[in-house]
Amino acid sequence: MPWTRRHLLTIEQLSREEIEQIHATAAAFKRILGRSVKKVPALRGKTIVNLFLEPSTRTRMAFDMAAKRLSADVIAVEGSSSSTTKGETLRDTAQNIQALQADMIVIRHAAAGSPLYLSRILDIPVINAGDGAHEHPTQGLLDTFTMLEHLGSLQGRKVVILGDILFSRVARSNIHALTKLGANVTLVGPATLVPHWFTGMGVNVSYDLRSALADAEVVMLLRIQHERQTSSHFPSLGEYTSMFGLNKTRAGWLHPKAIIMHPGPINRGVEIDSELADGDRSVILEQVTNGIAVRMAVLYLCSGGQPETVAAGSGQ
Ligand code: CP
Repeated sequence: MPWTRRHLLTIEQLSREEIEQIHATAAAFKRILGRSVKKVPALRGKTIVNLFLEPSTRTRMAFDMAAKRLSADVIAVEGSSSSTTKGETLRDTAQNIQALQADMIVIRHAAAGSPLYLSRILDIPVINAGDGAHEHPTQGLLDTFTMLEHLGSLQGRKVVILGDILFSRVARSNIHALTKLGANVTLVGPATLVPHWFTGMGVNVSYDLRSALADAEVVMLLRIQHERQTSSHFPSLGEYTSMFGLNKTRAGWLHPKAIIMHPGPINRGVEIDSELADGDRSVILEQVTNGIAVRMAVLYLCSGGQPETVAAGSGQ
């Protein structure tokens, strides 16, 4: 099946086959990244603008690295140094980026739906690097890519997402990706942050940490996203940690070979103890590394590349 999408806006709109195509392309790019010469000429002559109007470390750097490995020119535009601080609208900023002859735009924005909006007013591909609490599709893709590396298949596997689900775009993208790939997903945390209506997305919702973690093969921790919360959802961070923080005792309830994941940034001692974040079962830094290959795949495919070309080893 040829790749036909120009934009990556959500995982919700992707089919299982499209997710698998991105994963297969990322796997081929990961093999290339293991060579002594890590660069391919696939996007030579193209210019990618990374428009990040919200803070980011991992996503921004991984998109930057991915574009450079594909030989594209990259320009970073950040909120604090852009003319958005002078009152320019997102529409005007984006249309100016296109007028400056960018070939693709990667956007992170606090407003849900802003990548979709840009895809409707621009002629160039738009990649969502996180929009409000809506979606973070490349995070969901790199997370499931990392799980597949460890588990082989996600069909019927128990995956637990623990923490602030309500305000998490990472949770939403992972729920879409995991359910399409056949995983058995359980969300757990305080009822104020894990509303029961998430069951409508085809997942289980639990408020009992012990039974939720029992025999899970993957646990993904999420931090409390204070920046999107306008009121308190639990009495104090200490009480949150005492009830839902992952510590060594609670990690003992997981499947013996379970992996521990976190999209970052982590808050040590709040949602996860340091000994677990740095321990043998943690794949947190593998997730970060896989973010480069997955974003290479997304940039390449949305620029008109085809999966089988990379699989053949050239990436041209
Ligand atoms: N996981 C994630 O989106 O991290 P950053 O906010 O640092 O990009």
